[in-house]
Amino acid sequence: MNFWNELRQQNRPILLSAPLDGVSDLAFCKICLDGGADVVYTEMTSASDLYHESKQLITYLKLFKGVHRVGIQLYGKDPEHFTKAASIAESLGFDEININFGCPAKGVVSGGGGVMLMKDLDNVYKIIENTIKGTKLPVSIKIRAGIEKNSITALDLLKKIKNLPVSCVIIHGRTYEQLFSGEINYNLIKECKNFIDNNFIQSKELNGIFPIVIVNGGIIDKTTAEKALNLTNSDGVMIGMGSYGKPFIFNELKGFKNNDLKKYILNHAKYLFESKPKKAHLDFRKHLLWYLKNNENFISLRNEIIKIENIEDIKEILKKI
Ligand SMILES: Cc1cc2nc3c(=O)[nH]c(=O)nc-3n(C[C@H](O)[C@H](O)[C@H](O)COP(=O)(O)O)c2cc1C
Repeated sequence: MNFWNELRQQNRPILLSAPLDGVSDLAFCKICLDGGADVVYTEMTSASDLYHESKQLITYLKLFKGVHRVGIQLYGKDPEHFTKAASIAESLGFDEININFGCPAKGVVSGGGGVMLMKDLDNVYKIIENTIKGTKLPVSIKIRAGIEKNSITALDLLKKIKNLPVSCVIIHGRTYEQLFSGEINYNLIKECKNFIDNNFIQSKELNGIFPIVIVNGGIIDKTTAEKALNLTNSDGVMIGMGSYGKPFIFNELKGFKNNDLKKYILNHAKYLFESKPKKAHLDFRKHLLWYLKNNENFISLRNEIIKIENIEDIKEILKKI
């Protein structure tokens, strides 16, 4: 059975950890799974680099082997690259393929990719169609509300692709213009959910059920999660920045308390030092700053955090909290 169906049968909101460039590496994905995420995503990965079989990229992606409920997120603008990219991703053992139609990064949008595709719906259609051709895995998409206040195109995009069997639609309820802050357009997401429930092709892989709809943007705790779910009628939430230093936010939303901060910090560090031995100490500094930002001694700990070199240094800091 497709894992989305299993999740839907649990009769609780589905909890996704967001793809976060520069953050959601293997270690972050693993710690978010430990913290209760139902599905986690890789950082955006170039479909064209996979198409060209970039050795460096494939070596990195192989690290995910054996870790499950991981979706690989692909971005790009050349539809012809996505079939082979999807097939390689499947052979690498990922559970799902997500396509990025929301990225605002300069390097991506300048070439017409990411969120700019929300203006080029023919290409969006071809990219999804070609991805589905390349794999038996479920294929999901991640979109934004639109480009700017006067160009809210999420619903147009969904109308265009309603006959394609996507398994899940994740909607970041902000425009490109808003980047990563500001109000979430809950009404729009509700409209999208309604449209999907009534008009989308009922996917075979979902046993004839309509695609799952996930609300994303600004969810940082139970209150904001409940608000987003109530106002949009979505099947679940995706959390990005709300999981910084708090990968157990997913467990909290499931009602599990007593998440041991020190245990999460040490496990996260272990995963990172194992998977990226050369630069783990540099990468973990930012995570440790996030983990300890609410500690009463944060100001004095900060100077030590930004100098950590190894796990022993981290243990020394943990003795002080
Ligand atoms: C540092 C950073 C990197 C991001 N990288 C990606 C990415 O690789 N792919 C993607 O679809 N969205 C990316 N996003 C957007 C997030 O996945 C998410 O949609 C956005 O942050 C809103 O959710 P939040 O308010 O819960 O963080 C990124 C956001 C941030 C802040």
